[in-house]
Amino acid sequence: MTPEHQIETLKRMLELQHRRRYQLATEEILHLSLDAYSSQDIFELELETLFSDCPFVAGHVDGVREPGRYMLSDWNHQPYVVVRGHDGILRAFLNTCRHRGAPLVERQTDKPLPSFVCPFHGWTYGLDGALRGVPRQFAFPGIDKAAHGLKELPVTESMGLVWVHPSPHGSLDPAKDLGSLAEDIEHFDLERFVSFKKVVTEKKANWKLLVQMNLEGYHAATVHKRTLAQHFRNGFLAYDAAGSHMRILAARTNLLEALRIPEEEWKLSDFVLVYYVLFPNTIVIMHDDNVSIRRLFPLSPDRTLYSHELLYLPDHYIGESGIKALRSRFSYNEVLFDDEDFAMAEKVQRNLLNGVNETHMLGVEEGLVMLFQENVNKWIGMQA
Ligand code: FES
Ligand SMILES: [Fe+2]
Repeated sequence: MTPEHQIETLKRMLELQHRRRYQLATEEILHLSLDAYSSQDIFELELETLFSDCPFVAGHVDGVREPGRYMLSDWNHQPYVVVRGHDGILRAFLNTCRHRGAPLVERQTDKPLPSFVCPFHGWTYGLDGALRGVPRQFAFPGIDKAAHGLKELPVTESMGLVWVHPSPHGSLDPAKDLGSLAEDIEHFDLERFVSFKKVVTEKKANWKLLVQMNLEGYHAATVHKRTLAQHFRNGFLAYDAAGSHMRILAARTNLLEALRIPEEEWKLSDFVLVYYVLFPNTIVIMHDDNVSIRRLFPLSPDRTLYSHELLYLPDHYIGESGIKALRSRFSYNEVLFDDEDFAMAEKVQRNLLNGVNETHMLGVEEGLVMLFQENVNKWIGMQA
């Protein structure tokens, strides 16, 4: 965010705090249908529409800076490989051989690939996707190699992130989709960050229930009693939306101390945590010297693949003590997100259909939960 934007945002937070207005996108109680978290039909519709038509974040650019470096999809439903070519161009391919469909790359490593060699019969492809070599090619009389290159997906780098479109014919313009939020994210200069660690796990809850843990602060005082609640103000959140994407602002406990400092010395991150919910399934949490990228992919109505990557600024974490600090940051994230947020979402999922509640009732501080659901509904063509 520009310094002017930071001042304006902090003023807005102080004003909201002054009026004790924690309303988020609603002024009345709302009711959310439980089908959204349990229906097999809705799950399939989400895969066919939202997860087939909507661009998503594949990861941070650090994974693909040099030629040959690649980034695998963590999600079997959409198996792709993003790779930096020897010509410096970033491309994404479906990770499937054009002979008999074996996956070309099976393991994520940091070692650059010179080319793609299929582990089944050894067909070889350049990093540009062109079919280069067919062992004992005489066994394929008349084969048109030019027509059997890897299937490409649209991919682009924007705001320090790698974005993929799940459909070969899709178009990709994240900066345009994010509108005013794009410039905002640019100012964090995510390209400067490098990856510390990424962990992929499975959660026993619907993917939206997990995303929605990030869309209300009402649970902070209870779920995060010993952690976040110590540092944030009553779960006080504000938000801005651009299309289906959201920027969330969380007031730190010291918010009112800003009033004792001249405006021109204000630095937003001292008083407010900023994070983004990039539709449909990515949450990016911005700290001055570390950033968490968290992504959620549906496996079934009540199972979700969760990927959590921590990035950091190398000159802020130096030597052994730097590594130690990063390890402890990563573990702290796991406490907040896995042991607190997601563990609660899993318990809610278990109780979902026990007949006690017909809907989930949302208070005025939980309005973004419904807003997110409405955005999903637009993509899948359903009414709330
Ligand atoms: S399936 Fe890849 S070479 Fe046969
Ligand atoms: Fe939480």
